[in-house]
Amino acid sequence: MTRLNVLFCLLAILAGLDAIAIPLHHEVHEKRERLAPRWTKLDRVESHKLLPMRINLTQTNIENGYDHLMKVADPSSPRFGQHWTSEEVIEAFRPSKQTEQEVREWLIRGGIPANRISHSDNKGWFAFYATTEEAERLLYTEYFEYEDSVTGGVMPACEEYHLPKHILKHIDYITPGIKLLAPSHSKKDAASLRKVSSLSSRNTHDLHRVSGVVHTDPNDLSTCDIAITPACVAALYKIPPASSAHPNNSLGIFESELQFYYQKDLDSFFTNFTKIKNGTHPVPANIDGGQQATDDPFYAGGEVNLDLMLAYPIVHPQTITLYQVDDYIVQANQNDTYTFGFNTFLDALDGSYCTFSAYNETGNDPYLDQEYPDPNTGGWQGQLMCGVYKPTNVISLSYGGQESDVPISYQKRQCLEYLKLGLQGVSFLFASGDSGVSNYPAPYGIDGPTGCLGPNLDIFNPTWPGTCPFVTSVGATKVYPGYTVNDPESAVYDPAGFPYAVNFSSGGGFSNLYSIPEYQADAVANYFKKHDPKYPYYSALANDTGDIRLLPDIEALAGSTGGIYNRIGRGIPDVAANGDNIAVYNGGEFGLSGGTSASTPIFAGVINRLNEERLNHGKGPIGFLNPSLYANPSMLNDITNGSNPGCNTIGFSAVPGWDPVTGLGTPNFPKMLEYYLSLP
Ligand SMILES: *[C@@H]1O[C@H](CO)[C@@H](O)[C@H](O)[C@H]1NC(C)=O
Ligand SMILES: *[C@@H]1O[C@H](CO)[C@@H](O)[C@H](O)[C@H]1NC(C)=O
Ligand SMILES: *[C@@H]1O[C@H](CO)[C@@H](O)[C@H](O)[C@H]1NC(C)=O
Ligand SMILES: *[C@@H]1O[C@H](CO)[C@@H](O)[C@H](O)[C@H]1NC(C)=O
Ligand SMILES: *[C@@H]1O[C@H](CO)[C@@H](O)[C@H](O)[C@H]1NC(C)=O
Ligand SMILES: *[C@@H]1O[C@H](CO)[C@@H](O)[C@H](O)[C@H]1NC(C)=O
Ligand SMILES: *[C@@H]1O[C@H](CO)[C@@H](O)[C@H](O)[C@H]1NC(C)=O
Ligand SMILES: *[C@@H]1O[C@H](CO)[C@@H](O)[C@H](O)[C@H]1NC(C)=O
Ligand SMILES: *[C@@H]1O[C@H](CO)[C@@H](O)[C@H](O)[C@H]1NC(C)=O
Repeated sequence: MTRLNVLFCLLAILAGLDAIAIPLHHEVHEKRERLAPRWTKLDRVESHKLLPMRINLTQTNIENGYDHLMKVADPSSPRFGQHWTSEEVIEAFRPSKQTEQEVREWLIRGGIPANRISHSDNKGWFAFYATTEEAERLLYTEYFEYEDSVTGGVMPACEEYHLPKHILKHIDYITPGIKLLAPSHSKKDAASLRKVSSLSSRNTHDLHRVSGVVHTDPNDLSTCDIAITPACVAALYKIPPASSAHPNNSLGIFESELQFYYQKDLDSFFTNFTKIKNGTHPVPANIDGGQQATDDPFYAGGEVNLDLMLAYPIVHPQTITLYQVDDYIVQANQNDTYTFGFNTFLDALDGSYCTFSAYNETGNDPYLDQEYPDPNTGGWQGQLMCGVYKPTNVISLSYGGQESDVPISYQKRQCLEYLKLGLQGVSFLFASGDSGVSNYPAPYGIDGPTGCLGPNLDIFNPTWPGTCPFVTSVGATKVYPGYTVNDPESAVYDPAGFPYAVNFSSGGGFSNLYSIPEYQADAVANYFKKHDPKYPYYSALANDTGDIRLLPDIEALAGSTGGIYNRIGRGIPDVAANGDNIAVYNGGEFGLSGGTSASTPIFAGVINRLNEERLNHGKGPIGFLNPSLYANPSMLNDITNGSNPGCNTIGFSAVPGWDPVTGLGTPNFPKMLEYYLSLP
């Protein structure tokens, strides 16, 4: 025994390794295979530094989540619409008593005093501060600092860590651990803040001049192929004017990234195109220092104005609740993919999601992103907001990013939260993306010139969080020149320069992370059977490499097959609505805008109106939409023309039935209403 030990140490020294003697009854729990190029490994973290440790416990019943959700969302279920309370959701998903007890005992034996350990509201986490030395001893690991070349932020991480064998099954992951999440604010970011000033970072929200006359008269639909007015939207989807406003049926809209509305723009729009009174504005719901409006036309937000101008004419006199998320400093950091990762938003809607709710706020750690109170001057000085707003029945989010950019555990945990809120009756609608089968090309994305994946930059790149199977992903359609609102619409495609700076087409494709959900299985199978896109494909789901990117897995697999899209992933979008040539005012100017940013609030507005009718009939809100949509595709207008180009291909084609361009199609309000009123 002794000899062996000595030999072990000598070898280690000879090989120049930082050997840690791992006890026999311990095993590696997480290990990083590869460091993404944006990160640089620096020095060891000083041993006295405090680390905010979080132990993510394995939750029970996650595998049952889908079944739970289908029981309340599948129209053929006898329990359709019988949504859960938040307490029921917490109880159903909390880790087992055995897990809680064994992990707590291990921590205490490992030198973490019981009174330092707190347990989150959702029972899913243990949280405590530990010095680096304590954490290294507990996990048989070494912490280094890693610098992110994109934001300049630095965070601690290890390459692997070890747990006793009997504990492995109780723990999903530990942070700080192997994951590298770009911090949202570092001193460097704060210093560069002043440079950030203008409109939305995405070109498709910039205004374009109207060539031709636009008729504001609601009876005149002759110019809907030039500019989409509220009258055109109402005619396309047969939406009658709203009359009632149930007090519990406000439409929720999410904004971040410096999107402040300008009331004068709303007023100009209301005056010219609607009967809505000047001064009408959203119900404010500010989160962690978010701000609603601006008085300066220069700062008018193209995204928020667009969202409000599409949703108001559909839902008014119902109200709109505007969730403005994160303080100015966090929002202004547009180079960071994670500054609008939706977690602080979800924290505010569901306190049990807020992992820091029981956390001692003293000693905030500069490594953690979106930390509140914000240590930066001028940032939000209040506590992180947890469970402060009851979510509206429907929430429209015209935001997203590349699925391949977001750590798998981060996405999956968040996706589960959409499931949990779906169980409680909330519908989430996300824009499917504006770049067809690719994603935002440089300089809008961080993935080089094409927005596509793989060594040859030719692999399709779907948009998160629409890929999560528990939300509804919304694509975009267009009324092409010469056509009217009485003709079928087509999938949108505007080549770069006509009129937007980037190629614009309806985001669509197949997830590299989530498998095809049951509710969608027939629709996707039908698509491949009758309309095989004929591109080479691979069949894979990314493993949890723990790395910042999904990419390595998929790159390797696709590379060996030559495939350019995933044949076994969840398909997006689910549905579509108009998203081009939308008449808006922004910063005092009239013009045209577009994007799946536009189609999403249209579809969300329609769902809110359906909920309104259901509430007026003494029923509950619909909640998670997809199972009922896929069960009744005939209540949507099937789109069968056009495609979604990207990655040097014409993309997928819109065909009869579901397709990865426009999903099941656009709303037919009377048919949807009849159907949803027939459900319990
Ligand atoms: C919590 O914060 C208070 C000061 O605000 C401090 O005295 C106390 O030690 C902290 N507790 C822990 C467990 O860190
Ligand atoms: C822990 O992480 C897993 C994913 O690895 C996620 O599904 C789960 O929701 C997380 N637990 C909590 C309490 O957030
Ligand atoms: C609205 O919701 C609240 C709280 O859930 C409830 O007490 C109230 O009765 C609802 N109002 C109506 C008109 O249904
Ligand atoms: C409403 O606001 C618009 C834009 O500022 C303005 O042109 C119009 O005169 C206003 N109408 C009323 C009735 O105040
Ligand atoms: C909106 O109304 C104003 C005055 O009421 C008018 O000057 C302007 O041309 C109108 N804009 C459009 C796009 O019709
Ligand atoms: C974002 O990154 C680009 C390229 O690295 C840089 O030119 C720009 O100044 C950065 N913007 C901010 C707000 O830091
Ligand atoms: C638009 O797509 C074409 C290929 O379809 C590509 O050559 C071009 O570079 C793209 N333009 C922009 C601005 O992304
Ligand atoms: C994920 O891991 C499994 C089992 O190790 C392997 O068979 C599969 O090919 C991996 N998937 C990818 C995309 O690498
Ligand atoms: C079909 O879509 C193409 C663009 O892909 C468009 O040019 C054409 O006008 C559309 N046809 C109809 C009937 O809308």
